[in-house]
This record gives sequence, structure tokens and C-alpha cells, in this order.
Amino acid sequence: MTPGPQRFKPRHGNPILPGSTLGILGGGQLGRMMALAARSMGYRVHSLDPDPHCPIRALVDRLVTASFTDSQAAGRFAQECAAVTIEIEKIATSSLAQAAQYAPVRPGVEVLFVVQDRARQKDWLARHAFPLGDWKAAESPETLRGAAAAFGFDCYVKSCQDGYDGRCQFRIRSQADAGAAGSTMGDRPVVVEKALEITAELSVLVARRSMGQIAIYPPALNHHVEGILRWAVIPAPLPQGILVQAQDIARGIAEALALEGLLTVEMFLVHGERLLVNELAPRPHNSYHASEQACATSQFEQALRVICDLPLGSVEVVRPAAIVNLLGDLWDHNGPPQFSAALDLPGVRLHLYDKQIPRPRRKMGHLSALAQTPEKAIEKVREAHQRLTQQAGNVEY
Ligand SMILES: Nc1ncnc2c1ncn2[C@@H]1O[C@H](COP(=O)(O)OP(=O)(O)O)[C@@H](O)[C@H]1O
Ligand SMILES: [Mg+2]
Repeated sequence: MTPGPQRFKPRHGNPILPGSTLGILGGGQLGRMMALAARSMGYRVHSLDPDPHCPIRALVDRLVTASFTDSQAAGRFAQECAAVTIEIEKIATSSLAQAAQYAPVRPGVEVLFVVQDRARQKDWLARHAFPLGDWKAAESPETLRGAAAAFGFDCYVKSCQDGYDGRCQFRIRSQADAGAAGSTMGDRPVVVEKALEITAELSVLVARRSMGQIAIYPPALNHHVEGILRWAVIPAPLPQGILVQAQDIARGIAEALALEGLLTVEMFLVHGERLLVNELAPRPHNSYHASEQACATSQFEQALRVICDLPLGSVEVVRPAAIVNLLGDLWDHNGPPQFSAALDLPGVRLHLYDKQIPRPRRKMGHLSALAQTPEKAIEKVREAHQRLTQQAGNVEY
């Protein structure tokens, strides 16, 4: 069937009820955890991913193996779904637009278009007066070097497309570093960001429905090493004034984007008082995995509610919870680490993503822990992780 002009018309106030089929573009761990939540609410799940062995595979009624740029496949996929969402930003906007011909797509193609490219995203944020650190766009080794020089060769170079977990990024500390980054990136577009002295990293998850209902989670405090999130805790143990400011920024962005869906706003706290937006992700986020235990409504259930246009769930913190990521570095030729050492700690849980091949820096799963305070939750989950690293040599956290 060839798509006609906008065959699907959104019907507001018409929730998509359990028993319906939800389509998730992308079959990674975020899709997998959304599928688990969908299953518990009685939805059927289809997914589309180029990898037939992707983490979602055991949880879906149907897995379509196709490229994220195959818009015909995305259109056919959407014809079998009552609503479609994404779990990764790499979906081509042409695929999302094609899917939108047949089913509501949340978040929509306009939001994906804004966030998909780092320079475009920063431009959009700047135009809407959201606070950003100093940055410049570059599209050649010469302009990259010029931008790095303007920041005193103390900056980050990030590819505009496809970067995640610190991939396609370079930490520049010298002229030579800038030259090397320029040679690697060639004429690919990048952003060059001044290196910031960060007091803390935090994120805010927002869910917003088409008719404007909004739920803003309490901020999460996040700790990264070498560009990868290592641990995160909800609620962030930061001053109340900062938390309110962070939530206001996140709300403002969701509203300015006319968001229908989930959005995570990553932020830097600099000089202990000023918040800058780092980047946006229109989907569930690693830093909110602890919401499964910390909050009345997990980010995955909230994703379903918003996709299905159901009333949003409470974001109240029931009990502080933290997570620590389990990277492939913990696996060795004998297989996974001895999880029982971590599970022996009361309140610690194990989440694995069913990934077939462990690789260094690859997220294989996470540990989570509940405690009376955020600080104690971090301490507990890090201790659980420590018990695993003791067997696997040193992994910096
Ligand atoms: N301008 C910066 N100044 C200081 N640290 C930064 C800067 N940009 C990135 N980082 C560090 O690198 C991490 C990953 O960068 P980010 O832009 O969020 O990329 P990704 O898309 O891989 O998550 C950040 O969470 C932060 O710890
Ligand atoms: Mg990031």
C-alpha cells in the first residue's frame, strides 16, 4: 500500500488500551525494559531493529529486522501498531514520518529532528534561551582547530550524529589533540564545547501528553567516568533551589518542543549554582533506571502511559534508589561475574539486558539498591558493584 497524505488523524481523548499492539523502533535495553512494562500492563509489543539478536527479542510478539533508515519497513511496521515510539535517536526522521502516516508516533518527528543532530539541538536550545555552555559548530579539520583554539585547547569535540556513551567524542587538551581529532573527523560535522568544571551532573525526566498534562520527575544525580554513566541516584541530593531550577528548565524545554512523550534533559551544575543544559534524549534514560524502585511510576510505565495517551502516573519518590551500570569489562572468558556476591546485600537487585556478546564499555545490565537516603543508596549499590569488580580486576567507578 502506498502511503497517502497523512492517512492517520490523531484522536485526542482516545486512549490506546491494554490488548493493543505497541510498536517500539529500536530493540536495545531501553526498548526491552519498555516491553517488560508493556507486558505487565497487558499490551502486545512489536519492535524493529537491524539486529535479530537485539535485547528485546524474547519479549515481543513480532521482531522486524530492518534498518532504521528503511522508511518503507517503518511504514509497514506502523500499520500493525496502535501507537509507535522510539528507544533510540538513530531512527531516520523519514522512517518516523512514514510510521506517522499510520499510527500516532510519540515523541513526534519534529522532536526527533531537533535532537538528532547535536549542533541543531544546541541551536534550538540557544534560540529558545535555554542555558548552554560555550560551543561552536565545525565542519572541517581547519574550523575544528580554530574552535578548539578559541577555547584554549581545553574542550570536547563531539560528532553531531551517532554519539553515545562518550563515543565519537574527543577530549582536547592540546593543539596536537585538536589536530588528531580533526584528522579522525575529517569533514564530518562536529560541535566543539568548552570543557566545563562541573560540580555535579543531573538529569530531569519529563512526560508530556498531547493535551498538555505534564509530569516532571525529581532530578537524578549522575556520575560519569570517561563519558559513560557509572552510577545514578533518585532523588538527587542537591540543594532544593537547584532542583526546582532544573525542573523548570526541563518543563520549559518540553513545552517549547510541544512534546508528546518522554524527554530526558541532561544538565551540568557549574560553580555550584548555575545549571547548563548538556543534551536532550526523547526517550527513557539510563539515569532513570532507579525510577523502577524509587518512584511510584517507573520511567518505563510512564513511557507507555504517555504513548497510549493515558493519565500520567505519580512521580513521587517512594524510597531513594540508586543504580550502577554493569559494563562488559566485568565479563571474562569464564563468563559473567559472580552475581551472588552482589545479591547477598539486602535491597540489591540485578537487571540484565540479555546481550549475547560482552564487550568493554558495553552496558550489559545494572544493579539497583534501595536505602533510606540517596547517599546510602549510592553507597550500597557501589558496594555491591565493588564485590563484582574484586573478581574482575580494577574497573574505575
Ligand atoms: N563540555 C563538557 N565539559 C565537561 N564535561 C563534559 C562536557 N561534555 C561532556 N562531558 C562529559 O562527558 C559525558 C558525556 O557527554 P555527552 O555530551 O552527554 O555525550 P553522550 O551523548 O555520549 O552521553 C558527560 O556526561 C560529561 O561527564
Ligand atoms: Mg550524555
